Amino acid sequence: MCSERKVRLGVIGSGKGSNFVALAQACRGGNLVAEVAVVLSDVAESGILKHAGGFDLPARFIEPGKFRTKLDDAAEASYVAALREARVDVVVLAGFMRILKGTFLSAFPGRVINIHPALLPSFPGLASWKQALDHGVKVTGCTVHWVDQGIDTGRIIAQQAVPVLEGDTAETLHERIQQAERVLYPQTIGDLIRRGTLKPAST
Ligand code: GAR
Repeated sequence: MCSERKVRLGVIGSGKGSNFVALAQACRGGNLVAEVAVVLSDVAESGILKHAGGFDLPARFIEPGKFRTKLDDAAEASYVAALREARVDVVVLAGFMRILKGTFLSAFPGRVINIHPALLPSFPGLASWKQALDHGVKVTGCTVHWVDQGIDTGRIIAQQAVPVLEGDTAETLHERIQQAERVLYPQTIGDLIRRGTLKPAST
């Protein structure tokens, strides 16, 4: 009898890595039937790379190239090569702060997902929790969505609402949104795998 292999996640991030930790813990604990195949970052000293080391997972800094908000062509090719080399089935963006272009996305069609700290389509882009606070909304949250070539415009997969409380600062609101993200992201990826929407590429 041949046992199906687990879905292999390629996680890419630029920041402290709290979403990555939640995903890695869910994989280790069996709540998420998947495995982290590789962790990549465009920031050499990022928390996400340090955390990956703590989980004893393969992790690499890859130079992003000459632009500030996207990868240049050579960098994009290096990211795609590293993900292919790790035999990644799904690309999971976890705080990756660069736009991915069509060439990257076409290497993993329908297989790139992102988490965003707002209820899209409200507040795309940077510091969404601050945008929410500045607008005076009473409810914000987080969104898991497919990645397309726009900025946080891909089709929505799942959302979790987070109330804005009296006296919230950008920091307290961001922290509560991130708590919600750490539940929503592993849960949503698990649901996509259970439904067969995400599966090992070879099966
Ligand atoms: C998360 O809040 C994620 O939603 C956000 O970056 C943070 C990364 O935190 N992503 C974006 O804003 C993308 N548009 P983490 O490094 O602790 O996971």
